[in-house]
Amino acid sequence: MEPTAGPFVVMKFGGTSVSSPTCWQTIADELRKRFDDGEKPVVVCSALAGSTDLLEKLLAAAMRSEHGPILQELRAAHEALGDQLGLDAGAVLEEELAELDRLATGASLTLDVSPRLRARTLAFGELLATRLGAAYLAARGLEASWVDVRDHLTAQAGGAHESPSRRWFSAAVDDAPDATLAEAFTELPGAIVTQGFIARDRSGDTVLLGRGGSDTTAATLASRLGARRCEIWTDVPGVFSAHPHMIPGARLLRFLDYDEAQEIASMGSKVLHPRCVAPCRRHHIPLHIRWTERPEVAGTEVARDPTRGEAQVKAITHKSGVTLVSMDTPGMWQQVGFLADAFACFKARGLSIDLVSTSEMTVTVSLDPGANPLDDDTLEGLVEDLAPYCRARIIGRCTAVSLVGRRIRAALHQLGPALGAFEEKRIHLVTQAASDLNITFVVDEREAERLLRELHGLLFSERPAETFLGPTWRNLFEGRDAGGTYHPAPAWWQTRRAELLELAGDATPTYVYDQATLRASAAAVRGIGGVSRVLYALKANANADVLRTFEAAGVDFECVSAGELEHLFRLFPGLDPGRVLFTPNFAPREEYARALSRGVTVTVDSLHPMGAWPELFEGHSVFVRLDPGRGRGHHDHVRTAGPRSKFGIAHADLEQLCGQANAAGATITGLHAHVGSGILAPETWGETALFLARIAERLPSVKVLDLGGGLGVVEKPGQSPLDLEAVSGTLAKIQSTRPDLELWLEPGRFLVAQAGVLLGRVTQLKHKGELEFIGTDVGLNSLVRPALYGSYHEIVNLTRLDEPRTTTAHIVGPICESGDVLGYARTVAPTHEGDVMLFATAGAYGRVMSSSYNMREPAGEVFLSASE
Ligand code: LLP
Repeated sequence: MEPTAGPFVVMKFGGTSVSSPTCWQTIADELRKRFDDGEKPVVVCSALAGSTDLLEKLLAAAMRSEHGPILQELRAAHEALGDQLGLDAGAVLEEELAELDRLATGASLTLDVSPRLRARTLAFGELLATRLGAAYLAARGLEASWVDVRDHLTAQAGGAHESPSRRWFSAAVDDAPDATLAEAFTELPGAIVTQGFIARDRSGDTVLLGRGGSDTTAATLASRLGARRCEIWTDVPGVFSAHPHMIPGARLLRFLDYDEAQEIASMGSKVLHPRCVAPCRRHHIPLHIRWTERPEVAGTEVARDPTRGEAQVKAITHKSGVTLVSMDTPGMWQQVGFLADAFACFKARGLSIDLVSTSEMTVTVSLDPGANPLDDDTLEGLVEDLAPYCRARIIGRCTAVSLVGRRIRAALHQLGPALGAFEEKRIHLVTQAASDLNITFVVDEREAERLLRELHGLLFSERPAETFLGPTWRNLFEGRDAGGTYHPAPAWWQTRRAELLELAGDATPTYVYDQATLRASAAAVRGIGGVSRVLYALKANANADVLRTFEAAGVDFECVSAGELEHLFRLFPGLDPGRVLFTPNFAPREEYARALSRGVTVTVDSLHPMGAWPELFEGHSVFVRLDPGRGRGHHDHVRTAGPRSKFGIAHADLEQLCGQANAAGATITGLHAHVGSGILAPETWGETALFLARIAERLPSVKVLDLGGGLGVVEKPGQSPLDLEAVSGTLAKIQSTRPDLELWLEPGRFLVAQAGVLLGRVTQLKHKGELEFIGTDVGLNSLVRPALYGSYHEIVNLTRLDEPRTTTAHIVGPICESGDVLGYARTVAPTHEGDVMLFATAGAYGRVMSSSYNMREPAGEVFLSASE
């Protein structure tokens, strides 16, 4: 018999879920619903996003007696939110801020930050957030009692050998049911509002609960109160069947058993902290993961599976940066103590082993990068230490891909077709967890992404909406309302606003690129069905870190000039020239000669090259760019087909070109067409493929159809995104009817546009007649697209992003031309000199098309790396 749950519902809100007025509005609305259902909510809050970092900085600054400005920054962040919530934050937080000032001043005098002081200081993030939250709820007429959670959570005593970092910063708390606590909370009126992450030790000192600490608090309180539910409100919709940045088609998992959730959490999914599952499982408390931004989405429920679940795969997780050590042991394997001797070498170097697999001759183990120092010296030392026992070899840059689910052994038969995906890949190691909850394959990092996508496609995309499988990540973020209007997901720059404002400093104008978005777009294009290669058209953005990101993601390259080729090979000296296509237009003879001598594949798009310089092409394979007759694209300048276009050879000239190739001793191995740029019509690439496939029927040497680039992105309000599923479906079908032909795509814009923004600073404001002008340091020398094509870039006042937009103005630059207008009649928040303005969707054809016109240096570039 399970104990009957009381009326308590614990609701935890993470940092981003307590940092904006809309979030607090959601919290208030949700609390009302809980009251209506006769429930007693306990709200557990994290600190406002960024404030724990500020508190760390405060202590460091106190050592130099420079803590004043940091304290001021912390106060300003809370006051800004307070203003938006209609509160006088200064008054609400007076006591806490004064105490924090005393602590920092004390530290600056003693020049000593003890772990005790650090823990006590860091606790203020949560204390401030909950004070503000409780005041807001009261102002909205909701009954709420602010509770200092430290009065109710006492850390367990550690043993004599407990390290200080564990004692102060990663303390454990008891989760046994506690009737006294339930009684105390029942007596307090309304909702309880309290802090995550903090507790007290037995001597009454403040201690912290470590990473994911607020989740731990929520799970602990829920367990001790015997709550009906523990709700974790966060900035994503729930747990997905794979990492959605890599696989936008990943499905929301509606239901998971505790074991499965624990397994997914410990395999690296960041949604749920592994430490919060165990108490809920022990006390049978259902865990619900909810999305603060869209509370109507049901999210993921974690509970005991009453059916004990049929065997099936629920998710595919991956862990990159894994290093393997393979130990060849002819004859030694059977010897007593071999494993003990070998493993002692790992222990001596402080290396902890994650996975182990054994065969007759070889033992292979994996080292998790999160848990180990994996520098060259340590690894070389390890190989030497192992030499007396076996021949050891290090296999670096691997990724562990795991299938997670229930009774995975019994589900192996389902995996039959999926395992075909491994056929050509080297699997270094396979292990199966004794718990029967996962099976893991370790492969080369380069193979991993494709493997993940193939496995996910086979195991999930065909499955209808089952009870446990919800919508895809893409559906959720690119939702359409009942009227079919597209609502874009919040852009990365909205979530990284604070960072952008900080780096804008005095660095404007500057382009900023977000690596996570680059990776997501690369994954989206590489996931298009039927397409075997994606070549990035580097004319769109040649930033070195952008190119490195794509190279690492398995994307190849398309260049149009000798300059682009040089740049690429300077960056990747060992790059296989087979990964590069050269597609110039009206280039001089030397450029063809240089490209061919480098070994890259060259595309000819007129009769001139092979007619006039046949000697260059002897013995080479070439691609031929054809003109399909009709161009498409966002502007006349970028439509590259049709009788008036300078690109491609006319169909009628093909025969003559084949004759030239024959005479020159060249082989035509690919046909190419690129109809234009910025196209949102999904049928485009299927039409190009059919056009080229028909021609290829007459040319048996042709093995590749390159369908060009041109994939568009949403730039203006009211546009609908390119339907990649539709492109995928058509191309997969065409490819399956012509399995002898490979389909390639060479997108530029799609891969980079949304990953880049341009930041500028307001220089002057002008009112003239009826018109308002906002002047910025971004001119057409930094971003020429609006002047050249009338392109639309969304423009926001980043400094005042949350303020109502009430000013309509032309946004202009400092260049002496009337066309130097970045946006006409834009509505923005009331703007002041020095504010930071953001120009969105500027990653493609931005910096590469800039100039020093007027002797003004164009915008620089900053790259924001992603953590994984
Ligand atoms: N392949 C060829 C042969 C191309 O000429 C182009 C672009 C691409 C691929 C990549 O097209 P994308 O996927 O980026 O649309 N400056 C203009 C765009 C010019 C495109 C030139 N060719 C703009 O800012 O919109």
